[in-house]
This record gives sequence, structure tokens and C-alpha cells, in this order.
Amino acid sequence: MENEYILEMKNIVKCFPGLMASRNVNFAVRPGEVHALLGENGAGKTTLMNILYGLYQQDAGEIFITGVKRNIRSPRDAIAAGIGMVHQHFMLVPTLTVMENVILGLDNGLKPLNRRQATEKVLQLSSKFNFKIDPNALVRDLSVGAQQRVELIKALYRGAELLILDEPTAVLTPLEVQELFVILRQFVAMGKSVIFISHKLWEVMEISNRVTVLRTGERVNVVDTNRTTKEELAAMMVGRNVVMDYDKTSIPCQDFRIELKNINAVGDVPVSSLKNVSLGVRRGEIVGVAGVDGNGQKELAEAVMGLRSIQEGKVLFDGKEINTISTRERMTMGMAHIPEDRLKQGLVLDFTVAENMALDVYDHPPLTVKGVFYPGVMAELSKQLVREFDVRPPRHDVPVRNFSGGNQQKVVLAREISREPQFILAVQPTRGLDIGATEFVHRRLLAEKEKGVGILLVSADLDEVLLVSDRVVVIYEGKIMGEFIPGKASMTEIGLMMGGTKRVNKAGECTCS
Ligand SMILES: Nc1ncnc2c1ncn2[C@@H]1O[C@H](COP(=O)(O)OP(=O)(O)OP(=O)(O)O)[C@@H](O)[C@H]1O
Ligand SMILES: [Mg+2]
Repeated sequence: MENEYILEMKNIVKCFPGLMASRNVNFAVRPGEVHALLGENGAGKTTLMNILYGLYQQDAGEIFITGVKRNIRSPRDAIAAGIGMVHQHFMLVPTLTVMENVILGLDNGLKPLNRRQATEKVLQLSSKFNFKIDPNALVRDLSVGAQQRVELIKALYRGAELLILDEPTAVLTPLEVQELFVILRQFVAMGKSVIFISHKLWEVMEISNRVTVLRTGERVNVVDTNRTTKEELAAMMVGRNVVMDYDKTSIPCQDFRIELKNINAVGDVPVSSLKNVSLGVRRGEIVGVAGVDGNGQKELAEAVMGLRSIQEGKVLFDGKEINTISTRERMTMGMAHIPEDRLKQGLVLDFTVAENMALDVYDHPPLTVKGVFYPGVMAELSKQLVREFDVRPPRHDVPVRNFSGGNQQKVVLAREISREPQFILAVQPTRGLDIGATEFVHRRLLAEKEKGVGILLVSADLDEVLLVSDRVVVIYEGKIMGEFIPGKASMTEIGLMMGGTKRVNKAGECTCS
């Protein structure tokens, strides 16, 4: 008789010092289904999956694969049981090729015979699933979406029947998300299964067959996707209704906080070079930058902060040219930066929450007075921020490495906003955040705007840009295609601009131009 479930996790318990991350969790996946795992930041999704993949050991509970009890003590055991995992943060070696990454860690991995066979098999998988990947390309030269496909190939190469995808779409463009969904549908059509983690409810509604909801380490519900709604799922996760709709007060025509005038800067790749970019952010205004990832957003952000040199043009802060002023000085002058890559730029993972919150200010009063550093003050201030920004668990004295992705992001936000800046550059500020935390960040940014702070919001999430911005500019291949006011342009118009069609501003549309 066929088993009803390919996977059953029964009464899983996992404790970390001072915290129970899984509380008697039951979780079951059927063959041929995409099963979404949903929950707030820190709810225990990654922990549960790390147990399944053998990265952590459960303190109690059992795991059955197609009805057979299995002891999974390492990823090797998990792979042998037909489980593959693509992590929240990729685990590839950038300097190796696609094929080398795929066979890395296998017995006789890099031997010549193996390499030839491996190349062939990678090609086969690539064409079967339409991955469009060159086995001999270096991983560091691949786009994020392509790197993710390498992780998928790695799992498929090892014969995965059950794929765990931990927030796979957080790093993808809307088009790449659709491409991934095509692959996943193909995969489950073969009778295999996918566990899909995402904070984006429309994705869960679109791709999953069933949903398991976790809250603070407990399973609160399992539902069929076609019998629920986004609103219901949100309420199950958070335990209250979440309304993503904000009152935006209109902005008077104030002075510019930040102005870019005819900026030219060399990009990481030629298409992302900035070409004659001009834009301004006024006091008390949120300007969104919309566009498909890789069209110069990163270069734009770096040019604003002085992290990338510009060939031509001027950057002005409160009317003063700052071209030759260092990033650090810009921060002292009142510019804040919520960087895109919190793991590389935003945080020092082995530092505590308190130390990370003090990164930019440790050498100023009140933390350092007359050359003397006061750790007690640092602890006090960080405790306050942990409370205010709802960092979970509420600990200021442990390394940020142990925090869930969303809570790491809250630490960066707390640090940047607490410096009381006049200008905030927010790049993908809610990537990886659950809906409750996303709402919190949006409200915080809106509150800063009310105080007169100018905010430049760079986000690949068009919904977010439309929701919080007063004005939106669209960037394409390093050029500004036009600007509009949310609600006053059709999705078709916006889509055209994102695809490279220039827009002529309609008369009288922008009150401040
Ligand atoms: N190695 C660890 N040591 C101590 N605590 C940990 C460790 N790993 C996770 N935790 C804690 O366990 C809880 C669950 O974390 P987990 O990463 O599973 O959450 P998540 O649901 O994946 O959240 P997110 O949506 O933010 O990724 C969190 O409170 C986290 O801080
Ligand atoms: Mg996680």
C-alpha cells in the first residue's frame, strides 16, 4: 500500500538555551504536493527544517520517511533519505564552477572521470527543467536567480524526492519567481514534494496545495490552500488581523534633503552603470525607486552613500555638495543606510546585538565620553531598542548569528533609525520580514517621514514601493524612465517603464516638481 505521506515529523521538540524553538510540532507532507510552511520571524520554520535536514538534532520526537522511521543525524543521512535543501542563505563556493559545486562533498567528488559524468548529468538536469545553466560557468559570475538554480541542481543531482526551499523567493525578481514556480510545478508533477517557506502570502496562495502555520514554535493550523484566504493566513500567523494600508499625509513642497544631479557612475556590469541620473528627495517625503533588480539600484544606493565613486554629476545633502565627503562623515552629518545585504554590510554576526547596535556610535557620547567607553550605557540603550523594535528573543547580549533572519534585520533598522538621521536610504528594508514586522517597518519609516526625514526607498517589491512612497521613480538600465504618484498610474504604465519605455510626465501631476 502506498503511504499517504512522504514525510511525517511527530512531536518534534527543540530547545535552545532559554528558548523552545519547536514545541511538539507535527508536520506531514504528501507526495506530489507543495506544502507551505508559514509563520512569523522566529516562529521556528528554519529550525524545523534544519532538524529534518540533519543540521540540528531534535530533543524529542520522530521522523518518518514514506512510513519508515529514520534517524537523521547529518545532512548525509538526510540526502540518503531523499531530502534536499536550499538554504535561506546560499552555501555555494563562488570561485568554483557550477559542476564543481554540484559534486562537492560527494565521494570521489572531483576525480576526472566524475567530472565528465557530472558535467553531462548537470546538462541533462538543466535541459529537463529548463534551467539554462552552463556547467562550466563560475558561480561568482552568476545572477542570484541562477545561483539558486545551482542549489536546486545540487539537490536534484543527489536524487531528492523532497525539496526544502527556505525563503527561495526573497532574493528573486518577480520574473525569476515565476520561473521558479514553473520548475516547482514540474517537480511535483513527477510525484515529488516541496516544502516552501515564504513570507509573501500571494506566493503561498499561488504555489502551494496545503499550508502549515507555526506560531512561537507551535503548530497552530494545517489548511488546504484553496479553502483559505490571505487574510485568514495572516491572522493565523500573527494572532491578530494585519491591515497593510496606511494613511499617507500629503507632503508640502519642502526643500530637498538629497538631490542627485546628472550622475554618471560605472556599474558592476555595463547595463547597471548610472547614466545621467537626476532625482531628489524632499524633507518629509518618501521616494520609491522601482525597477527590476540589477538595473542600477545597487549603484544608485552606493553613489548616494559615497560607497561608489561617480564620474560626473553632483550629490547634494541639504543643499550642500557632498561628492568628496566620506561615507562615515555622511553618516555623522545625518544620513542613514539600511543596506541590502545585512549579512555582508549590515551586521557583524559574531558581535552581540548590543555591539551591532552600537557599530556606528560607539566612539561618541553617551557611549564614549572623553575617551572612556561605557559598556553599561551601551547595554541600557540596546535593551531599550530591543524592546522598541520587538527583537525576538528580547536579548541584547547574545551574538546576532543566533537570531532568525527577520530579527537580524530588525537589529539593523533599530541601529539606523535610532541615530535620528535626516535622510534614510532604505534598500530592501523588509526583505525576509514577516507581515507583522513588515507593517512595523513601514509604520516606522512613515513616522520618520512625519518628522521631516527624507527617505529613499529602493525595493524590488513593487507592492511595497506603491504602498509607502509619496512618489516613485522607475529605473531601467541605469536610467530614470519617469516618475509617478502611486494610485495615479496604471500597472500597465508602470510595467512599461520597468521594461524600458520612457514616460512623459503628465502636466500638473507632480505637485512639487
Ligand atoms: N543556533 C541557535 N541558537 C540559539 N537560538 C537559535 C538558534 N537558531 C535559532 N534560534 C532561535 O530559535 C527561534 C526560531 O528561529 P528560526 O530561525 O527557526 O525562525 P524562522 O521561523 O525561520 O524565522 P525567519 O522567518 O525570521 O527566518 C528564534 O527565536 C531564534 O532566535
Ligand atoms: Mg528562517
